[in-house]
Amino acid sequence: MTSVPVLMPAQMPPVVIEGLERQFTLHKAWEAPDREAFLREVGPTIRGIALGGHTKVDAAFLDRFPKLEIVSSFGVGYDYIDAVEAGRRGIIVTNTPDVLTDEVADLTVGLLIATIRQLPQVDRYLREGRWLEKPYPLTATLRGRKVGILGLGRIGKAVAKRLEAFGLPISYHGRSRQEDVAYDYYPTLVGLAEAVDVLISVAPGSAETDRMVNAEVLRALGPNGVFVNVGRGSVVDEPALIEALRSKTILTAGLDVFADEPRVPKELIEMEHVVLLPHVGSASVETRRAMGQLVVDNLVSWFAGKGPLTPVAETPYRR
Ligand code: NAP
Ligand code: 8YV
Repeated sequence: MTSVPVLMPAQMPPVVIEGLERQFTLHKAWEAPDREAFLREVGPTIRGIALGGHTKVDAAFLDRFPKLEIVSSFGVGYDYIDAVEAGRRGIIVTNTPDVLTDEVADLTVGLLIATIRQLPQVDRYLREGRWLEKPYPLTATLRGRKVGILGLGRIGKAVAKRLEAFGLPISYHGRSRQEDVAYDYYPTLVGLAEAVDVLISVAPGSAETDRMVNAEVLRALGPNGVFVNVGRGSVVDEPALIEALRSKTILTAGLDVFADEPRVPKELIEMEHVVLLPHVGSASVETRRAMGQLVVDNLVSWFAGKGPLTPVAETPYRR
């Protein structure tokens, strides 16, 4: 038990709250009747912050915490944090990589199959009693497809490994070729999309990736093309995707992430042939617990003087 003041701006899973309460003086901003007054009062004392994707961490936010040393973020993607600005101020940012990789990869493969074989639609068909009238129409197939991965990182590689076992050829696009990987590399995303008929995006949200899956990429993917997004909604030009689905420029899409979550465009919701998930890639009890524990462990390690466990690239730890 220490008296280090740690702030939690919005409610997080019990494993994080309980873990931090055991180790620190935890300030829970969401419980304060007047959040602004509360932050004005405790802000100048705060040395650590634990948070998820609901609080935008920019220069104005960081200004409120002059003694801040570390921001421990729940999730591997941290596009809601200006980590460059944090680094400039000497503030460490940590995320939760690896502990969710296999879970998200499993979900991605499930979403791909569900999308091509229309599993949610087939389930609805049975429940509506329509099987009694006639069998469900035949669907498209995963067999014989070529898979392209945008963002061959930890999760992208875990997806590739699974789909290799399904007998599907894999290729990828990223900012550079990975010499230790045998998959075909495409230096442009349009080139990759032209070469494959399944495009899976696992790229992070950033200024660079913003809307990089655009109308041209979707045209290149073609009328038999399946687009799966488990990375970030911002990586896709959502209106262009809606148009491509409406005009049958591509066959279908399976989406776990959206541009303005939790709001999902009604044009997508009204499309019967797409599969939509409410950002559940890592959402199992076990994996969310492991992510929460890593949020706690990063803060504990930092305040024990042992450095952060999983700092992001923009704020590397130097002793
Ligand atoms: P990672 O290991 O950092 O992999 C990210 C990959 O994206 C890297 O291989 C990188 O390759 C590529 N990339 C980055 N910027 C790029 C750009 N401008 N153009 C093309 N490729 C680019 O991260 P991860 O652990 O696999 O996680 C990936 C992302 O998945 C997270 O950032 C998060 O947004 C998302 N995610 C979603 C869920 C969910 O529930 N749906 C759960 C976890 C994570 P290069 O460096 O070679 O470009
Ligand atoms: C989380 C994710 O659901 O890790 C990520 O980047 O997108 C998911 O695992 C999310 O970050 C928690 O809010």
